Amino acid sequence: MEAVAKGCQCQALRSQDPRYQKLADIIGKYAGEAGALIPVLHEAQEVFGYLPHDVQVLVAEGLDVPLSEIDGVITFYSLFTSEPQGKYKVGVCLGTACYVKGAADVLEELKKQLHVDINKTTADGLFTLEVTRCVGACGLAPVVSIGDDVYGRLVPGDIPAILDKYLQAEKNG
Ligand code: FES
Repeated sequence: MEAVAKGCQCQALRSQDPRYQKLADIIGKYAGEAGALIPVLHEAQEVFGYLPHDVQVLVAEGLDVPLSEIDGVITFYSLFTSEPQGKYKVGVCLGTACYVKGAADVLEELKKQLHVDINKTTADGLFTLEVTRCVGACGLAPVVSIGDDVYGRLVPGDIPAILDKYLQAEKNG
């Protein structure tokens, strides 16, 4: 059996990850300013794509704010997420028109096909499943958006072929 080094290697790995230097620069830019937390979290999320726990800890230390306050901000503002985000956001509209036309069944099919729950990302990092409010395309209900594409008048049976388009596109580079 191979020997495994004990203890967390995060510190050493961070020094090789340029995103952490960017984070230090962002914190340095705002440190000491009132109301710094939101802009720092916003820029940190642009760098990392989401706000993992270790980034939250570094922001808390750098701005001298309690970690619980950061957690509260991330929970309160839907703009922020502590979950990794997939390449494609799959948004299932659960507005009234979509709901009455069967959006809940389409959502269940997406959960089944992607093997994820709402606000979770597939293991391959490709899709994040979300629910949305009305996206203004009620005439096409039920509506699902994937990245910049919008699909309407869906039934659960449409989902596998739609997802396959993105999977094939990934395979073909
Ligand atoms: S309710 Fe879904 S697009 Fe309006």
